[in-house]
Amino acid sequence: MSEIRKLYEANGQGHVFEFYDALTDEEKTSLEDQASAIDLDEIAALTATLIQNSGYETSEFLETVEPADYVPLEKNEGVDPARWVKAQTKGEEALRAGRVAAFTVAGGQGTRLGFNGPKGTFGVSPILKKSLFQIFAEKILASSRIFGRPIPWFIMTSQSNHDDTINFFEENHYFGLSLDQVKFFSQGVMPAVNGEGKILLAGKNQIALSPDGHGGSLRALVRSGATRQMEAAGIDIISYFQVDNPLVRCIDPAFIGFHLEGNSELSSKMVTKAYASEKVGVFCQSGNKTLVVEYSDLPNELAEATDANGKLLYRSGSIAIHLFNRDFVDRLGSGTDKSAQLPFHLAHKKVPFVDSNGKKKTPEAPNAYKFEMFVFDALPFANNPVIIETAREDDFSPVKNAEGIDSAQSSRDDQLRQFARWAASAGIKVETNESGLPSTAFEISPLFGDTAGRFASSWGALENKPELTEGLVLV
Ligand code: UD1
Repeated sequence: MSEIRKLYEANGQGHVFEFYDALTDEEKTSLEDQASAIDLDEIAALTATLIQNSGYETSEFLETVEPADYVPLEKNEGVDPARWVKAQTKGEEALRAGRVAAFTVAGGQGTRLGFNGPKGTFGVSPILKKSLFQIFAEKILASSRIFGRPIPWFIMTSQSNHDDTINFFEENHYFGLSLDQVKFFSQGVMPAVNGEGKILLAGKNQIALSPDGHGGSLRALVRSGATRQMEAAGIDIISYFQVDNPLVRCIDPAFIGFHLEGNSELSSKMVTKAYASEKVGVFCQSGNKTLVVEYSDLPNELAEATDANGKLLYRSGSIAIHLFNRDFVDRLGSGTDKSAQLPFHLAHKKVPFVDSNGKKKTPEAPNAYKFEMFVFDALPFANNPVIIETAREDDFSPVKNAEGIDSAQSSRDDQLRQFARWAASAGIKVETNESGLPSTAFEISPLFGDTAGRFASSWGALENKPELTEGLVLV
């Protein structure tokens, strides 16, 4: 019996090799490779703490929790605009010095959207239906031109969408970026287990594996060699964003400036929550630690509490936009510092499996537990975390659902509203409804202008200014 099989037997997971003897040599090797990548002690510990004890780590800090501090937006009353100008200048300097890389987590399965394919390939722009990846690529290309440096872009995929993602970029010639500017790596996996902690088989030679959450990006950045490549290129700041948000400013100089000024290891953007039950995590403080409490963990009385001005007390919504110091990623992602490990969270899901007779079963109710890490759980380990406010309309309109809130339609409308605001501020007459939605749908490429100011200067430079008609695309 192979060593790995013996180890599984000794740990009560021998059933993983139940069909082993009937497998081909190739299938045997594949199963052994999958099995070797799993840390059985970790699975046993997670089963004991998370499934069987259902002890959740948030309860104790809720007694001492407070809203986290943040830098309010420049336009808010009482804010010194010079602070923002200084941050902008500092960020621009860092960009000109080539210290920043963009990083997208794109390993999720996009189940809620019901789209069959890597989510980044989903078309979202109003007229051209540009994919999320194309929009980010053009924003990164625009910033690269402005700051005179090709900004490297790291993309984390998962095993199931890795090849499709790369093929998409190849077919589209990297959207104008150079080939060596875009780097892909796949995130880690965790096995699904049943209520007793037994690892499930997805096939006779296949363990039921799923991505280890966006928090797995820290490990994956280290394991893939990405942080070493960054170091060699002189990059010490990683601009992190999720694949689902076409409005995100992939590279934001002021944000980078605040991160540097605060000597922060991990900085985050917040938006004021639209309403108490909005499904975003909330930035909180507990003692000297900053953390994000997931919406599902924030008790109603805290979510609904208001301050003296009637504003939500816990209003700092996390929109999953962060800046990481490369050193900090190395510290957390390498696993060498045992006191700085991201915890796993549990998800109870329906996972198809092979039963002990070798029959495939598709469960109708959740039958399995998956383990995921969340990237914002790195916050309590970070020195001097900085949180800045951002205007939702300039940074956040994710595509998560097939319809309604946070859908392709709502995101399209938010893109149109942004284009209309930029056009109006450049002196173009745009008719809008009371929500700011223009009556004429048009599109502005990030390469024409990625801010109101840059749009205005490109527009000003046009010799023959087009009419703002339905379907107009400014490239
Ligand atoms: C997430 C945040 C929430 C935040 C909101 C903002 C969590 C648990 N919650 O919610 O606090 O307010 O975004 O939009 O994250 N991903 C991977 N690998 C994985 C899992 C996810 O790369 O294993 C990526 C996805 O591709 C996507 C992103 O992470 O880019 C978000 O994942 P998702 O599960 O959709 O998070 P939300 O529940 O929307």
